[in-house]
Amino acid sequence: MRKFIIDTDTGSDDAVALMMALLTDDVEVVGITTVCGNAPLECSTKNALMTVEVCGKRVPVYEGLAKPIMREPVTAVNVHGNDGMGDLDLIHPSTLPQRMHAVDFMLETIRSNPDEIEIVAIGPVCNLAAAIIKDAATMKRVKRIWSMGTSGFGAGNTTPVAEFNVYADAESYAILLQSGIPITIIGFDHCLGPAALNKTDIEAWRSHSSVSRFAVECNTELLNYNLKRSGEYMIDLPDAVAMGVALWDDIVLDSVSAYCHCCTTEPHTYGQVIIYNKNDVLAIEQITPPDNATVIRSIDHALFKERMNALICG
Ligand code: RIB
Ligand code: CA
Repeated sequence: MRKFIIDTDTGSDDAVALMMALLTDDVEVVGITTVCGNAPLECSTKNALMTVEVCGKRVPVYEGLAKPIMREPVTAVNVHGNDGMGDLDLIHPSTLPQRMHAVDFMLETIRSNPDEIEIVAIGPVCNLAAAIIKDAATMKRVKRIWSMGTSGFGAGNTTPVAEFNVYADAESYAILLQSGIPITIIGFDHCLGPAALNKTDIEAWRSHSSVSRFAVECNTELLNYNLKRSGEYMIDLPDAVAMGVALWDDIVLDSVSAYCHCCTTEPHTYGQVIIYNKNDVLAIEQITPPDNATVIRSIDHALFKERMNALICG
């Protein structure tokens, strides 16, 4: 049985990723840690509690950092809604978060399960950076971090070069990349096109069950954002794609081991993650530091969608 901690700024695409893990039999979600990001921390926490409840599960939720470690907070309420979940008044959890802080839960769980815990990081990585600052040695006993973050080998979604989870706290992402923890990066470049829910998927989820209907309804603002921005009737689910890679290694068609550098000093490049892929560029070996991440280059979108649909509409 795999043991996951899911670190999330529960917005609407996070909710689908949470559902995928919660509905997978051979994964134990030992805890969910919430962080600021898509919406303020209080929303992330209530949204996570609600998602667990909708799935009929009992998984503890722990609140983490309400602000990035250095920069002023940014949100994505313009994309996900003010509550992060479509602003349809869906969020009325009957449970409360645990009293323990997310960072302390993370460290305690890793100490008691060395080399077993996989962390699926689907929001800004403030909690992970704080845990590394507090106890780097314990964090080195994490089996692997699966990170939805960076623009991968494509363009940014928040600036031309930065993806939201990194842009929201680039200093924390830099700390993560320098930590020595095994990390797999799933960039935003895999999340559009065939990986997104199309009109047929959306209608099927809307009519299948209360769980699948919640998964679509909480993404209403994201759908409206895409219609306004590009006229496309689609719901892109970056965190669900990252969760798919974490759950199913056979959907990965290509990946590369590389040194990744997170830019934090210049305003125009803040949050850019430069991937020194030695296969693509004439990177002179001696100036490229050792590889620090595995970066996904391509996935089987059809297989991903088939597996995700089977879980959500199971
Ligand atoms: O850039 C996409 C990421 O930013 C996703 O995790 C989404 O939930 C937002 O947090
Ligand atoms: Ca997220």
